[in-house]
Amino acid sequence: MADADPQLHAEARAKFTAMTEGTAEDWAIISGEYMAFAGTVADRVLDHLRLLEGDFGGFPVDRLTHSLQTATRAHRDGRGEPYVVMALLHDIGDTLGTYNHPDVAAAIIKPFVSEQEHWICEHHGAFQGYYYFHFLGMDRDTREQFRASPHFDACAEFCAKYDQAAFDPDYDTLPLEFFEPMVRRVMAKPVRRG
Ligand SMILES: [Fe+2]
Ligand SMILES: [Fe+2]
Repeated sequence: MADADPQLHAEARAKFTAMTEGTAEDWAIISGEYMAFAGTVADRVLDHLRLLEGDFGGFPVDRLTHSLQTATRAHRDGRGEPYVVMALLHDIGDTLGTYNHPDVAAAIIKPFVSEQEHWICEHHGAFQGYYYFHFLGMDRDTREQFRASPHFDACAEFCAKYDQAAFDPDYDTLPLEFFEPMVRRVMAKPVRRG
């Protein structure tokens, strides 16, 4: 995009052209920019979630409605905010990670949720398969490879109660606006790294 007013974009920039030439001053500039950018991650995630609107893929509801309904069911069942946000975002990777969508969502939420909530998100594809893999010539018990995990039951419960049940066009699904403040609160600060 052309700069109509160069003064608007006159912020400080690092001077190096390769990192081998970087200085503490350069990195003070970059880390300042990073902190501001990190503060708006929730907005970028919400923008990306909206891309699922109108994308039905043959399902009775579009992918945004499915996401909202999964989160609504979890919220009404008394789940905490990080869990509900995980439920809301669990399929956000459908657009970019079409062959491995749980990995995308799991990576996005990892700094902001518990180990178990991250595990549920990362593995929900295999567990959701219990409800349909056999219709596609696959093994519905694929999830059994994870039976020894301490998170097995929690992931099975997520799919049974919320994910597999969230395709009802007549359900009273809460709108994205309801969840936006929750997403901003949960993503305001990482609770763990790595
Ligand atoms: Fe999924
Ligand atoms: Fe889902």
